[in-house]
Amino acid sequence: MGDRTPISEWSTDEFCHSGIDSSVAMKSLIPDGYKPKLFLTDPPYNLGFDYGSVSDSLEIEEYHKMLLRVFDAAYDAADDNAHLFIINYPEIVGRMWDTVIEPKNKNGSPRKKKFWTFRQWITWCYPNNWPPSKTKFTRASRAIIWMTKGKPEANVKQIVQPYRNPWDRRVKGLMSEGKKGPALYDWWPQIDLCKNVSTDKVTDPPYSNQMPEVLLRRIIHITTKPGDVVADPFAGTFSTVKAALHTSRLGWGCDMNPDTKIYHPTIEEYKPYYLDIFDKIQDEQWFDIDPKTEPFNFERAGIDAENMIRALWAGLVELPRKQQTNLALELERLEDYSNSWNINEQPSFKNEDEDGVSMNLDLFKQLIELIPRDSIKRVLEAHNIEFKKNWSDSKLKEELFRFIEEIVPNRKNTVTEQESTPFE
Ligand SMILES: C[S@@+](CC[C@H](N)C(=O)[O-])C[C@H]1O[C@@H](n2cnc3c(N)ncnc32)[C@H](O)[C@@H]1O
Repeated sequence: MGDRTPISEWSTDEFCHSGIDSSVAMKSLIPDGYKPKLFLTDPPYNLGFDYGSVSDSLEIEEYHKMLLRVFDAAYDAADDNAHLFIINYPEIVGRMWDTVIEPKNKNGSPRKKKFWTFRQWITWCYPNNWPPSKTKFTRASRAIIWMTKGKPEANVKQIVQPYRNPWDRRVKGLMSEGKKGPALYDWWPQIDLCKNVSTDKVTDPPYSNQMPEVLLRRIIHITTKPGDVVADPFAGTFSTVKAALHTSRLGWGCDMNPDTKIYHPTIEEYKPYYLDIFDKIQDEQWFDIDPKTEPFNFERAGIDAENMIRALWAGLVELPRKQQTNLALELERLEDYSNSWNINEQPSFKNEDEDGVSMNLDLFKQLIELIPRDSIKRVLEAHNIEFKKNWSDSKLKEELFRFIEEIVPNRKNTVTEQESTPFE
């Protein structure tokens, strides 16, 4: 833990700057005695994004020179032991490797000036589906380049991922010692871009390339301690400064676009988080995953896919009507994709006419095998289908199948309207 009580030391005017080039600002506008331990930034992409009066369409040489100028100034302003994290598209990082990341002279020899040392390339994969492309795979990742100056500490085990097999005896032992999970991999899934619908909402007014706070906080937690200075020389919406204040660090930011002044945070907004975290964070391990995005883990649950489907079918009748429909359709979709649309499956050449039963009915036959007796009875009752209480399981299943067969043509036609269930 840092031993400062920084709350009184931070102010918008001293730590947030707009309308000035960061390579200049970092020389004179970082308050004396506050050397950043972490630079965390998402530089311009040079792809023509809208940054107000600041051009995002520079000649490539000019673009690389500007980045190098800013990272040189960051190096000079940084603490003797510090981190730099640069977030950008992988191919843009690739193109700048010899000029910005590991700068070399024109003849290929390393540049003399002291500079950041490359440590690791991390890939952030986000669940995105935009923009679609007819010729390429959908863009859904960015590179995070980790560089260091001196020998800074990094507690890579502060934010961890859940153990895959927490019920294992050896893992249980680790957990009883207070360990929560293994370190993260060098690819980070499940953190979404800032969107109106995600936990990281876009700012109002929106601004190009706003970074999600969950991602920023992860890096801040791992590389700094409460009270440290965290700086962003391409601050945009000042998302890094806000994430720093949320985690009880002193955030410093600068952006050349004067319009970004409206995003400057005030300490009053952040005081509650700031005080809370400062006292709470110890050298413990934490998760930063959102339970809504953590996928169900079959391995951990000790259940195979077939049993999972069985459980879902068994619980189906308990759900509200609309959820019954969607769950049934989803189960059908899974089966259909894997049986009929899996490119690695051998074709089965089923003839619908000869069988007198369509592929879908075949599927239902299999699924009906999984439905418990009580549930079948309830479905039949719900649809006023007469049956005898003492019928055998196979007779009940037969009756349900007969009923489904009757309604299949209608069901198939109305699927998109989301109105009918397979049992209606
Ligand atoms: C990709 S955006 C950063 C967005 C930011 N990460 C956020 O979450 O809002 C890059 C920013 O760099 C700024 N910029 C470009 N050149 C600059 C320079 N030399 N000094 C300071 N800011 C600069 C642009 O105005 C733009 O706002």
